[in-house]
Amino acid sequence: MVRSDTTCGDMTEGRRRARRHPPYKSAIGSHVPIRGSRAEQCRWQHHLGRPYAAGPVEPCRHCWTSSAQRLLSPREQRKGADFHLQMKISATDYNNDLFPWEHKGTTIDETVQVCEWLEQDGVDAFHVSAGSMFPHPRNPAGDLPMDALVQNYGAMLSSGAHTHRNHWIFRRRPFRTLFHWRWVRAHGGHIEGINLPDSAAIRRAVSVPVICTGGFQTASIIREALSSGQCDAVSIARSLVANNDLVKLFAAGHDRAPEPCTYCNKCLVNAANNPLGCYEESRFASREEMIGEIMSVFEPRPFR
Ligand SMILES: Cc1cc2nc3c(=O)[nH]c(=O)nc-3n(C[C@H](O)[C@H](O)[C@H](O)COP(=O)(O)O)c2cc1C
Ligand code: SF4
Repeated sequence: MVRSDTTCGDMTEGRRRARRHPPYKSAIGSHVPIRGSRAEQCRWQHHLGRPYAAGPVEPCRHCWTSSAQRLLSPREQRKGADFHLQMKISATDYNNDLFPWEHKGTTIDETVQVCEWLEQDGVDAFHVSAGSMFPHPRNPAGDLPMDALVQNYGAMLSSGAHTHRNHWIFRRRPFRTLFHWRWVRAHGGHIEGINLPDSAAIRRAVSVPVICTGGFQTASIIREALSSGQCDAVSIARSLVANNDLVKLFAAGHDRAPEPCTYCNKCLVNAANNPLGCYEESRFASREEMIGEIMSVFEPRPFR
């Protein structure tokens, strides 16, 4: 097992290196709830003073950046800090992708405003994602393997507001079919670079680096995203789970890995119970080979 203190030490060192070597060749981050969907904002009744049903509200600096400011303030504490502070943000909520009666949630125009405020508050870079929750049909965009989901979802039942409702839906055929249809329909088959339009909008508004997440695994698409100025860098999650030598393959001249990530999201639904790895059997010669590859996560090569 990798010791957690070793991992934390490596992460801290990664942040320091990123700070020393702009434009941030490495950075480690996670979704930070700088604000939720509009429904969440209703908790700040003291500020809004009107019910959610009253319709859209203007972005308010206090409500929309308060979580981030707890990390950043007092600002003086950050003066001289030697680490890189990056915000992973859901640029557009698409809050009604699954349940059409819900509000759409945050729009890109509102998020651009929030990013401008956060830049003024000292954020070093933005990492552009999507969706009012995690997981969401647009993050990580792809399929939703319903059988594997039902097998693994039990581990989630004790947490979350709607886990029992979701588990009920996933196990009943007409509802699960509808849920799956709405999930896949949301990305509409456009997975690689799904967040580039939002990334481009944020990049036009801020001067710090903007990193884009979402399905990247083709060298020519990544090159075009960078050269067209839609982002300063892309981040890659599942495609590196599927092919951890992807960067070496690019360097060797491949545009794509011979066995690319299929965006099946089996890694995602297994994550609650099983080791992180690629669970798409079709990518391996046999099930045994797949399990061997998954278990290799417990014998990692050193980072350095
Ligand atoms: C198994 C799994 C776990 C993830 N965990 C997190 C997480 O803890 N925090 C986060 O911000 N994103 C998380 N993500 C989302 C990824 O960081 C990434 O934004 C998303 O998968 C889209 O990128 P990709 O298409 O390159 O996979 C996770 C994704 C997967 C597949
Ligand atoms: S299980 Fe493998 S192929 Fe499927 S999304 Fe995850 S990494 Fe990609």
